[in-house]
Amino acid sequence: GEADAARGETLYKACKTCHQIGDGARNGVGPHLDALFGRVAGSLDGFKYSSAMKAKGAAGLAWDEATLDAYLAKPQALVPGTRMSFRGMQAEHDRADLIAYLKAASAG
Ligand code: HEM
Repeated sequence: GEADAARGETLYKACKTCHQIGDGARNGVGPHLDALFGRVAGSLDGFKYSSAMKAKGAAGLAWDEATLDAYLAKPQALVPGTRMSFRGMQAEHDRADLIAYLKAASAG
């Protein structure tokens, strides 16, 4: 069925300890997730990414529904060597709901 952004907001609790999103979001343990859609991977000024993430961005990886789905399913599979300590979200419908929330919460 349709992705459920409200349900995605509850799933976003798994991300909150490391990420901020929305107006005024700042980098913390992880890069902020505002203006995420269309962002080249590893491209925020002032955040110290892994060399693996920067190399993926230089090779053309940018964040959209499909690339986020792959990264959130298994971060180390899409970006081997990423230093995001998150094992992945297994259920496809959970990822779809979370991505719908990210899209709604991320300005621009
Ligand atoms: C990177 C999303 C959970 C720490 C990223 C990026 C995205 C993302 C989209 C790439 C951003 C960019 O290229 O600018 C998420 C979501 C999460 C989650 C949606 C929850 C499902 C976490 C958790 C942590 C974390 C729990 C800390 C334990 C990081 C770090 C990076 C990163 C350190 C940089 C990775 C690197 O440079 O290789 N995250 N994340 N994330 N995240 Fe997460």
